[in-house]
Amino acid sequence: MEVERKTSEERADALEESMMKQLHVSAAPAQAPKLRRGTGVLFGGLTPAGLPLDLAVLAPMPPRPTIVDFFKLRFMPHTVTHMLQSANDAQKKGEPEETVLACLLHDIAVNLIKVDHGWWAAQMVEPYAYVSEKVSWAIRHHQALRFFPDSSVGYGYPERYVQIFGQGYAPEPYIRAAYEQARKHKWYMEARMITVHDLYAFEPGVKVTLDPFVEVIGRHFKQPKEGLGFDGSPVAHMWRSLIYPDNPL
Ligand SMILES: [Fe+2]
Ligand SMILES: [Fe+2]
Repeated sequence: MEVERKTSEERADALEESMMKQLHVSAAPAQAPKLRRGTGVLFGGLTPAGLPLDLAVLAPMPPRPTIVDFFKLRFMPHTVTHMLQSANDAQKKGEPEETVLACLLHDIAVNLIKVDHGWWAAQMVEPYAYVSEKVSWAIRHHQALRFFPDSSVGYGYPERYVQIFGQGYAPEPYIRAAYEQARKHKWYMEARMITVHDLYAFEPGVKVTLDPFVEVIGRHFKQPKEGLGFDGSPVAHMWRSLIYPDNPL
């Protein structure tokens, strides 16, 4: 082993270096952040990759907003591009329409809150009955699955996550537990395919519009007649928080 070939002085140096690295890591969170990293991107701060976000003045929403209105007027442009590219990739590769829809909606919650965005997004779409249980299950579980490779479908740990989460990142135990549970579930592949198309969704220079997906939404997403946020559903407040992100209390 290489370690055993080192002199005691070299070993001391290596130890010191590794302690300094640990010190650096443990010292980092002690700095008071300006904004929690889990803040939803509609509320400002940074993208998950650490790029600063520009907050524009928001246009008012129509009185009975549809999910298309949220895509056009509330979801931050980089999240829209990401989800459209993901859905486009799924569609181009002949995935079933439910998978295309799952890809189209998988990261909507990042606008509201980044922490546990899979769980939040699944909850946001669950009451709208044409979204099958399978679609919301897949959206919920893509969050845990993306950290774990699956060579059967050519999915490896994304390089981008080294940038976002740091080298040698180990997801929280509850994420691993969710992955292990999902691995054994009959719908595992539904969630896995979101992660597969998620990878290609960062293709630069590919311009995709919402238009080809409006019909897909129409077939699978039951738009409440009062509008999202005003339908009295258990998740209406989540949609309202996106409508009124500047309300101070
Ligand atoms: Fe995601
Ligand atoms: Fe994504």
